[in-house]
Amino acid sequence: MKILVPDAQFALDPDVERTALPEAEFIIHRARDPLQIPDSVWSSADGVLVWQDMPLDRVVARKLTRCRIVVRHGVGFDKVDLEAFAERNIPVCNVPDYGIEEVANHAIACALSLRRGLPTYTEMLSLDPVAGWQWNVAPLVRRLTGQAFGIVGLGRIGQAAAARAKALGFDVGFYDPYLPVDEPAAQPYLRFADLGEMLAQSDIVSIHCPLTRETHGLFGESTLARLKKGSILINTARGPIVDTDALLRGIEAGAIGGAALDVLPQEPPDPDDKLVAAYRLPPSWLAGRLILTPHAAFYSPESWYDLRYKAADTAGDWLKKGKLRNCVNRHLFPPGALPV
Ligand code: NAI
Repeated sequence: MKILVPDAQFALDPDVERTALPEAEFIIHRARDPLQIPDSVWSSADGVLVWQDMPLDRVVARKLTRCRIVVRHGVGFDKVDLEAFAERNIPVCNVPDYGIEEVANHAIACALSLRRGLPTYTEMLSLDPVAGWQWNVAPLVRRLTGQAFGIVGLGRIGQAAAARAKALGFDVGFYDPYLPVDEPAAQPYLRFADLGEMLAQSDIVSIHCPLTRETHGLFGESTLARLKKGSILINTARGPIVDTDALLRGIEAGAIGGAALDVLPQEPPDPDDKLVAAYRLPPSWLAGRLILTPHAAFYSPESWYDLRYKAADTAGDWLKKGKLRNCVNRHLFPPGALPV
């Protein structure tokens, strides 16, 4: 059984994957472009474990002549052409349950960091520990109790973020047009049928929806204009959901208080990108108002191990036992074609 990892994010030894699937031969590449991997390698794979760098499009699907499963190391599957794989009878699965706690904690850490002034204090004290010894200079500091925390997408991570925000004293609301009205996990929170209404009332907005055709560019100029004056936007979901040029303009105009972004439209970013350039050499109006992290919300050594183990285990369950879990293109197969 040959398992191809085309864009491995670990050093070349698949030690964790081997623990989950000892009988497999792992073929490890660290490519970003499918063309960097010979066709003979693609066509020899019984299964593919893909990270976030490698797009798996229709052309790649055609090369995978032996392949019986693709597993996405992670939650989002926006870089995999689900239809192309279903047409070739290849189920695509994800690993939805490896780092929920980490991402929710990251979003909350960003909110707390900006609302407690940590970027400002860190920068001022590292520049001058005497002149920088000032407590009243951080622009976004507020008491949390009674502030409104709005969540876009109340799924696994959104629910974990909501529980944490509620425990901190926020009034929590959410916008999720696809969540059933009787979802028990949503009951403690205020549901908004209209995104604009939630944005107008929220002091902090945290994005936890997937990247889809509908959410691509969802936070463009007009949606950002609906944010409450002085509020904070947090994005730990996917970069293309937020127009970062428009976000920067909103902060400069004083309409938006600040932002924390773990994900960017291009990763790693272009250093000359407007928002990234402003972050590196902040003008005075941006100081203490922007946090960037390198798509790291999911990460802890524990979640990293879980992710690798579960991805290999998911492939093994299907290839060895015919058991399929977390299949994200099931809806594109004819009824009954895949086991329940
Ligand atoms: P999930 O599938 O459990 O929840 C997503 C929720 O978003 C669902 O309840 C869905 O109904 C809702 N939704 C879909 N379209 C929407 C729309 N147009 N407006 C509002 N809500 C909408 O997914 P989960 O596990 O909570 O993950 C959320 C996202 O977080 C993933 O899609 C992924 O892109 C991102 N993520 C980021 C990580 C990071 O390291 N920064 C790590 C893991 C996930």
